[in-house]
Amino acid sequence: MDADALEREGLAAAAAASSANAIEVVRVEYLGRKSALKQALREVRDRETGMALNAARERLEGAIDARESELARAELDARLTTESVDVTLPVGGFSRGKLHLITQIRREVEDVFLGLGYSVVDGREVETIHYNFDALNFPAGHPARSPLATLFVDETTVLRTETSPSQVRTMEVQEPPVYIVSLGRTYRRDTPDATHSPIFHQVEGLAVDEGITLADLTGTLDFLLRKLFGEKRRTEFRTHYFPFTEPSIEAYVSCHVCDGDGCPVCRHSGWIEVGGAGMVDPAVFAAVGYDPERYSGFAFGWGLERIAMLRHEFPDLRELWRNDLRFSRQF
Ligand code: DAH
Repeated sequence: MDADALEREGLAAAAAASSANAIEVVRVEYLGRKSALKQALREVRDRETGMALNAARERLEGAIDARESELARAELDARLTTESVDVTLPVGGFSRGKLHLITQIRREVEDVFLGLGYSVVDGREVETIHYNFDALNFPAGHPARSPLATLFVDETTVLRTETSPSQVRTMEVQEPPVYIVSLGRTYRRDTPDATHSPIFHQVEGLAVDEGITLADLTGTLDFLLRKLFGEKRRTEFRTHYFPFTEPSIEAYVSCHVCDGDGCPVCRHSGWIEVGGAGMVDPAVFAAVGYDPERYSGFAFGWGLERIAMLRHEFPDLRELWRNDLRFSRQF
C-alpha cells in the first residue's frame, strides 16, 4: 500500500473516531508498532519512498493529536453542562429534620405551663423506693411495689414508675409557693402492646400555695386540655384513687372524633380518659415537712404517649418508636 493510501485511510479513521478511547484505538492501529505504516517504513529501500512515508506519518500524527484534543474538549464540555451546578436555580426539596412527636408535645406542655408562671424541673429516672413509693404514701404491700410491676435496680432502687417523685424532691428543697411541671421518661414492667410500653413519658404538675382548691386544679386541667385538644373540647372529672392525693380525680375530655355522641374511639361513651390528678395528701406534705394546716396543693400526672395517640388518632403507640419515617414525618 502506498503512503497516500495509508494516510487517507488513517485520516478518515481519525475523523470518524467519536471518543477518547476510539482515537486511541486509531492511533495504535495506524501508528503503532504493528501498523502497516511502521511495517512499510521498516521495509523501505529508497530515499523517496522513505520521505513520503515519514511525511505521511507526521501528518497522520498531527491529525490524530488534533482529533484527540478536540474529543477531550467535547467530553469536558459535556461533563461541565451535565454535572455543573446552576447557582441561579431555586433550591428545592431540601428536607429538614423534625422533632419527634413526643418531644413536640413535651415542649408544648412546657410552654403552656411556662405561660402560667410555672417552672420546669428535672427529675431522676433512677430513683430510690423512698422517693418513688414511701414519700408518696404508697402503703406496704401495694402492688406497684412488686418486682412484677416495677423494674428494680437493686433492693432499694428502681427505675421510676411515674414522674411523681419529682414532686417530693422539689418540695424538699423549696418552700411554698411551688408551681412546677416535670416531664420525662418513666418505666414499668409491661409487655409492649398497642397501649403499653415498658418505657413511656409523663408530665407531672404540682402547685402548692395558701388557699389552693380543687377548683384551681380543674380550672388548670381544663385550660391544658383545651390547649392540647382544641377550644371546643369539654372536660369532665371523675373521682378516683391515688395514694398521694385526697381527693383523687381522673380527667376526661369529650371525644374529638364524635364530639361526645359516642363512637368506637371513645368506646361509645363520648368521653376519653387522659390522666390522674388530685389534691396533695397531707401525708405527702408531712414527708417533706410542709404544714398542711397552712398550705394546700394539687398535682397531676398524665402520659404523653396517650396525649399523642388521642390527638392524632393512631391506634398503636409502638408506632412512635419504630422510627419509620413515613409515620414520623406526619407530625
Ligand atoms: N402517678 C400517677 C400514675 O402514674 C399519675 C398521677 C395521678 C400523678 C395523680 C399525680 C396525681 O401527680 O396527683 O398513674
